[in-house]
Amino acid sequence: MEGDEYVLDAPVVRAFIATVRDAIGVGTSPADAIARIRPGFADLLADAEWLPAVYQEPAAESGMGGGIGQWLLYRAGDGSLSLFSLVVPPGTETPVHDHLAWGLVGLYRGTQDEEIFAHDGNALRLTERRALRPGDFYALMPPRDDIHRVRTTSSETSVSIHLLTNDTGCVWRHAYDPESGDVRPFRSGYVNVDCDPAPPGV
Ligand SMILES: [Fe+2]
Repeated sequence: MEGDEYVLDAPVVRAFIATVRDAIGVGTSPADAIARIRPGFADLLADAEWLPAVYQEPAAESGMGGGIGQWLLYRAGDGSLSLFSLVVPPGTETPVHDHLAWGLVGLYRGTQDEEIFAHDGNALRLTERRALRPGDFYALMPPRDDIHRVRTTSSETSVSIHLLTNDTGCVWRHAYDPESGDVRPFRSGYVNVDCDPAPPGV
């Protein structure tokens, strides 16, 4: 597609994105598209060869904080799709955040605990906690299950793979204080590419 960026230009990535585009094209709903994408996503998580070491490295300067690296691998020119790795050092956790788009998230290396939150009046309520091992993955389907926090529980850095139907690193989304429910605008960025600057005069 016009303007697509294959930051990691590898046959595995191109083939996966092609299956995703097909699934979105013929899928009758996000849930249906996700069902069609699942087998290819599982294959991606099971393949130990395709993701270069550089995209499995933490990043000292990062929008997520805590040395968490968010590495763009692919994004659509129109902002409708992105594939990225999220690298979380041992004992580190992300802020509580949302994504504002449907997609799939799966663990590639290490282990994580994921905590899922829901709005409860002005605060957030923890609705589910799950432990993830390599090969485990889940769907994000806003507005349900879109707010979460992940923490690395392994002694090695964890690496998760995200396929989302927006340019997740560059859109303004939300980070939350789970106790007070306070919300702040949040843009994580990517370690390896810039987000478009704001248009002049904005
Ligand atoms: Fe997330």
